[in-house]
Amino acid sequence: MTAAPGRPKLQQLRLDAADCRKCPLGERATQTVWGEGPPKAPLMLVGEQPGDKEDLSGHPFVGPAGRLLDTALQELGLDRQAIYVTNAVKHFKYEQRGKRRMHKTPAQQEIEACSHWLESEIEAVRPRAVAALGATAARALLGRPVAVTRERGGWVTREDGIPVLITLHPSALLRLHDEDRTEAWAAWLDDLRRLLPR
Ligand code: URA
Repeated sequence: MTAAPGRPKLQQLRLDAADCRKCPLGERATQTVWGEGPPKAPLMLVGEQPGDKEDLSGHPFVGPAGRLLDTALQELGLDRQAIYVTNAVKHFKYEQRGKRRMHKTPAQQEIEACSHWLESEIEAVRPRAVAALGATAARALLGRPVAVTRERGGWVTREDGIPVLITLHPSALLRLHDEDRTEAWAAWLDDLRRLLPR
């Protein structure tokens, strides 16, 4: 896709990514799910990859994990519309089981193949802080494996000077049994609270 003069950077990148085939995932996914939010958002949230609902709708974090994220943001008084929300990998990776498409964790090569898109979003938006939701996002953002359970709640500054908060992916909370969820929810909110301006 050629750049049109005057077209906003993120809009151009979205168009460029629409037919990306740098890894095999684009072939099986419905569409590229690009990030969404204000072009100069102060905060950026990065997830792993679109899920089934996101793949079908073309929007990030609109399925069950997204609803949980929305509830957390509301509880913290953060407006999702003011945040740039995206994923480390822009295509849904899944395994077909009967009629269901089951999420599959992206491979390291797929994360790497996609990382220039995430980096281009960060460069365009230049948020004051980024939250890595889960291990895939943390690895993509920091360029090293991250043990989320050990490092969660901590900040790591990237080479470009942007601080990254490490925390859980909302799907990790969805997988918990009811009796464990209350405590895990409170701990997750404590992590995310660190994104609030002081
Ligand atoms: N999980 C993610 O990591 N991203 C989404 O957009 C949806 C679910």
